[in-house]
Amino acid sequence: MILVTGGAGYIGSHTCVELIQAGYEVVIVDNLCNSKYEAVRRIEKITGVLPKFYEVDILDKEGLTKVFQENKIDAVIHFAGLKAVGESVRLPMKYYHNNITGTLVLCEVMAQFGCKKIVFSSSATVYGDPAFIPITEECPKGQCTNPYGWTKSMIEQILTDFNTADPEWDVILLRYFNPVGAHESGLLGEDPNGIPNNLMPYIQRVAIGKLDHLNVFGDDYDTPDGTGVRDYIHVVDLAIGHVHAVKKVMEPVGVKIYNLGTGKGSSVLDIVKAYSKACGHDIPYVVAPRRAGDIATNYADPTKAYEELGWKAVRGIDKMCEDSWHFMQMNPNGLE
Ligand code: NAD
Ligand code: WQD
Repeated sequence: MILVTGGAGYIGSHTCVELIQAGYEVVIVDNLCNSKYEAVRRIEKITGVLPKFYEVDILDKEGLTKVFQENKIDAVIHFAGLKAVGESVRLPMKYYHNNITGTLVLCEVMAQFGCKKIVFSSSATVYGDPAFIPITEECPKGQCTNPYGWTKSMIEQILTDFNTADPEWDVILLRYFNPVGAHESGLLGEDPNGIPNNLMPYIQRVAIGKLDHLNVFGDDYDTPDGTGVRDYIHVVDLAIGHVHAVKKVMEPVGVKIYNLGTGKGSSVLDIVKAYSKACGHDIPYVVAPRRAGDIATNYADPTKAYEELGWKAVRGIDKMCEDSWHFMQMNPNGLE
């Protein structure tokens, strides 16, 4: 049985679907601080299986202990965490406490129950301004520009140190690039609270008419069209990557790091174009100043994940935009 922390969230819910479809039993722990129980019902709609759900905070040791007492957990996929970059700058204490202390409490309970296998949601943000592109796992970690990024970088170190002290810990650190898109059914997807910070959720709302235009943050970068280049990865490809990782973590792997990206960079304007095609009308945009902390180009070399996990992303930006638009049309007010 696999424990999925943050399993009601965007990437977690898609991963639960893929795990269930691959034959795994899944139990979810989520405090619903950034998600709704409806996501769990949607997992059932897609798979025909309602995963066991605990509305528990990972900071709550007793709550987690009960989950481990009641279920025989073989491995944990740890998504639970706060992820808003801007908010983390304003509220660093909240981010360090939730993400880092939360992970420590989780691991303490895991160890008590002899479950020492964890797949962790890290981020390409740990590379900072990357030393080279495409980014391989050999690329040195860099200076993060915000507390959120530092929580990822620090948790990677913490889990690595657990393995150094006790080789029974098997740890897979997955560094995601830019997850976007939605489940093909239109039943699961991303719809953040408030005005979105990230590109795709922002475009989604412009497309549906809730925001009137996109601000393109800078068109004078050293990139083919001057706008920022990123490695957008379809959330279903990413979810499938986790199924491969959880299979791998059952072996004595020690600590392994994998980039989960497509290896392909797309500019802001490439995404605007693909989204216009998907929704059938123009996406109005204006060029605005660069956003503080942004880098020009960021994309993965995903070769290692292919060689060692047998996984690679197969969905391109047209599919990402089509599925995002389908989700938006089916759920104009999010998961109600
Ligand atoms: P999300 O906010 O949709 O999902 C996170 C889930 O964790 C939410 O359901 C939230 O309610 C839950 N959660 C948060 N704190 C918790 C706590 N203390 N106890 C229990 N549950 C808690 O975000 P997501 O996009 O699905 O991201 C999942 C993970 O992947 C996060 O750790 C995130 O940092 C990481 N990640 C995300 C991206 C991205 O761009 N989406 C990129 C790289 C890494
Ligand atoms: C993508 C591109 C923007 C919004 C963030 C986090 C990172 C990771 C993934 C968790 C950039 C441009 C954006 C807008 C724009 N998350 N943009 N107008 O910054 O690459 O990564 O999400 O780990 O840590 O920092 O993603 O979607 O915000 O931006 O022009 O309204 O779109 O400048 O070039 P980013 P993003």
